[in-house]
Amino acid sequence: MEQKRNGFGTRIGFELAAAGSAVGLGNLWGFPYKASANGGAAYLFVYLACIFLVGAIAMLAEFYIGRRSKANPVSAYKAISPNWGWIGLLAVVVPALIMCYYYVLGGYTVKYALNSFVGNAGRFERFAGNVGDVILHTVVFALVALAIVTAGVRHGIEKSAKLLLPTMLVILIVISSFSLLLGAGVQEGLAYYLKPDFSKLTGSGILSAMGQAFFSLSLGCGAMITYGSYSGKQVNLARSTAVVCILDGVLTFMVGLAVFPALFHYAAVSGSGLSELGMGGTGLMFITLPMVFEDMGAGGQILSLLYFTMAAIAATTSVISILEVVTQFIIQRHKVDRTRAVSVVTLVCVALSIPVGLSLGLSLNGSSELQIFGKNLLELLDSVTNTLLMPLCALLACIAVGWKLPKSERFTGFSGVMLRFITPALIVVIGLFGALDIVFPAAEGARAFSSDGFAVVVIACIIVLLCVLAYRIFLRDRDTGSNADEAEANALRKEKLSAGLQRGWQRPE
Ligand code: PFF
Repeated sequence: MEQKRNGFGTRIGFELAAAGSAVGLGNLWGFPYKASANGGAAYLFVYLACIFLVGAIAMLAEFYIGRRSKANPVSAYKAISPNWGWIGLLAVVVPALIMCYYYVLGGYTVKYALNSFVGNAGRFERFAGNVGDVILHTVVFALVALAIVTAGVRHGIEKSAKLLLPTMLVILIVISSFSLLLGAGVQEGLAYYLKPDFSKLTGSGILSAMGQAFFSLSLGCGAMITYGSYSGKQVNLARSTAVVCILDGVLTFMVGLAVFPALFHYAAVSGSGLSELGMGGTGLMFITLPMVFEDMGAGGQILSLLYFTMAAIAATTSVISILEVVTQFIIQRHKVDRTRAVSVVTLVCVALSIPVGLSLGLSLNGSSELQIFGKNLLELLDSVTNTLLMPLCALLACIAVGWKLPKSERFTGFSGVMLRFITPALIVVIGLFGALDIVFPAAEGARAFSSDGFAVVVIACIIVLLCVLAYRIFLRDRDTGSNADEAEANALRKEKLSAGLQRGWQRPE
């Protein structure tokens, strides 16, 4: 029987899907406030350097791990060494955890986009406090992702990426052009964003830029391994890595062009100080920007609609990549069909995202209920995954490709040196300083031990330990499947269906 190829149909489809995973709320929400907290242009410069020098190498390693095995992350690492499959399991668990808060944030973008039709996009606290509303929008967002992933890699993920990524680019061009033409304050905004003053860049700013680059490129959470496993043999992975990094870098750069001139314009017109705008805080996208858009009148309303629609699109193309990681694993491990796998994953993650949304809402309204270790659940999950587990997974991917593969497969030249030495060293630095920041947070200039922070690091260690144990007990000596399983399962289902139909036709009257 002819084996139907299961994966991306075209190179460009693969690249757009991977770029769609990369460009997400990290670029639209995280980048502007982190850049303004860390000196603007200098931060941008370090961020772009990290994308192209460090992130690109780790991405290439992850694509390669997926492509050489044509399987889910567990099988992919197992193929490198039977003892390394637990890393693959970790790379399936981390996206599941990320999904529990990404759904909530995606729900926020949907709500803000819809609100923009009727006026002001809204205020974070007001929306966050309305439990029913948060759940409703989280579910709507999750259902859109479910529909795309159910349609499959080629007909769902690839097709949507081909449509949504160019749409996002067009919207961003419109918004940044509009922003650049605002007049008063634009020059100052541009100077802030584009003229680097490295004296403003601290060590923690550099680390934040590195961490941001990794999160933005979707590294260390199985997404690029899974997408790599669906890429055809004819795809030049180095070239595709370059395309994805360039797209991510360009779109991030343009987000700054859209946001900073608008903020400085608002400051100039309203006479408010930049600190009053909450420039360096997490509320920049959900609190300050709606205020800035509202101040612009009718034009601002259109801008608001465009910005939050773009954010909802960006969140969708990102979340489908993490949903696909877990879905692919379940299809292959349990030999079930796609619809069933994706429905179960969505159901479980949406259920888990409800307390996360509630906890965020309560904390925004000044209540510390539903917090663990002094953090709301979104912050907790973000610290555990983004700061600790993702760098760990990315580091292990580099070590696997740089040191564990047979010599004939290893990268040589510049990328070989980067992969074996420089990139792992930089990831270790990001991870260690990230952990240090959690355990000894800086308060009023001094650092003090935080038992809550320590508990967060312990949680991350427990997750790693559980993955090692679960792998050894349940997966090490069992087949964890490959991409061919899905095609086989589909063929079998079709055969059964047609046999059933034929029997039906032949049944005597
Ligand atoms: N890169 C996405 C963003 O910038 O928002 C976040 C993300 C998506 C992280 C997918 C990890 C992932 F697997």
